[in-house]
Amino acid sequence: MTVIVTGGAGFIGSNFVFHMLDKHPTYRVVCLDKLTYAGNLSTLAPVMEAPNFRFVRADICDREAVNRLFAEERPDVVVNFAAESHVDRSIEDPGVFLQTNILGTQTLMDACRKYGVARYHQVSTDEVYGDLPLDRPDLFFTETTPLHTSSPYSASKASADLLVLAYHRTYGLPVTISRCSNNYGPYHFPEKLIPLMIANCLHDRPLPVYGKGENVRDWLYVEDHCKAIDLILHNGRVGEVYNVGGHNEMRNIDIVKLICRKLGKPESLITYVTDRKGHDMRYAIDPTKIHTELGWLPETKFEDGIQKTIDWYLENRDWWETIISGEYMHYYEKMYGNR
Ligand code: NAD
Ligand code: TYD
Repeated sequence: MTVIVTGGAGFIGSNFVFHMLDKHPTYRVVCLDKLTYAGNLSTLAPVMEAPNFRFVRADICDREAVNRLFAEERPDVVVNFAAESHVDRSIEDPGVFLQTNILGTQTLMDACRKYGVARYHQVSTDEVYGDLPLDRPDLFFTETTPLHTSSPYSASKASADLLVLAYHRTYGLPVTISRCSNNYGPYHFPEKLIPLMIANCLHDRPLPVYGKGENVRDWLYVEDHCKAIDLILHNGRVGEVYNVGGHNEMRNIDIVKLICRKLGKPESLITYVTDRKGHDMRYAIDPTKIHTELGWLPETKFEDGIQKTIDWYLENRDWWETIISGEYMHYYEKMYGNR
């Protein structure tokens, strides 16, 4: 079995590469990644020399490179993590989000049609459903909730989902889609809420909370997401969408305060800054379908997951300090400088 994992040098993709090599040692895992600002080859160092692993640097929008790789590897399964993934960046510059997230998906699926695969899996997000009001805690996203996006990022992901379903219906491509809630864990790029707050705390820098910090996200430990995708690949029904989430809703401000407490830093570091444009209020997944059909349940409790995550950032300062010392500083200044 050969599995192409796109975006495998990013946060969730790298955790998935490790998961697959560990759980399925007989599989060949091929990572295709462009190494954008969010991709980090050093993350994959522990598996680089493994005989059943191969890394290829390429853009999923590059038809020639994608076709060449498919001709060489003849993959059985393709799992597409490659994407521009940060909402704030999509608000600044939507173009590359449409390019990678939509047209890149098309290029990959065209290669799947040309060479034939047993499964194309699209890694999507709960953000395609838009948001839920804070005063209706009884409401959750199910797989039949209408798509109703807020940001250029979520609109690009929803477009890709529609294209994936269209390729299934029109060409019979054997697809599955997972729509997951916010992940956290090791190798999370420090522009996202949890790693940004950990890194800033450790440098005694202000902790920029958007708006009032009342927005709610449904946090899932990354390994639980990887297990869900693995289950969908093996036992999921072709043509189906599976929501993945942990019933673990938390307000941003409570997460930031928790990180302060765990790192022994004062809450006076918290700085309320101008809200994100179009900021989604609440995401909350109903994971009944993946639970009843595939037996999936999140295994890591938030208290344990956040402790493991903080410990990882403490033990791997080189990984994230290298990132935040370079080009990232320009981004940080642009996004937070005058906020
Ligand atoms: P990430 O930004 O950490 O990593 C993205 C990876 O894709 C990077 O390695 C980057 O180099 C690569 N990439 C970007 N453009 C590429 C291109 N054109 N060709 C090849 N590679 C390219 O993202 P992440 O947080 O790991 O998210 C992975 C996937 O999961 C995305 O599709 C995202 O929409 C989805 N998702 C993320 C979350 C989350 O909480 N992070 C939740 C649900 C779904
Ligand atoms: P983020 O990690 O960017 O994920 P997403 O927008 O995809 O959910 O943000 C999580 C939440 O944290 C979101 O409500 C925005 C908020 N946030 C801040 O308050 N401050 C920050 O510096 C960042 C990056 C996010």
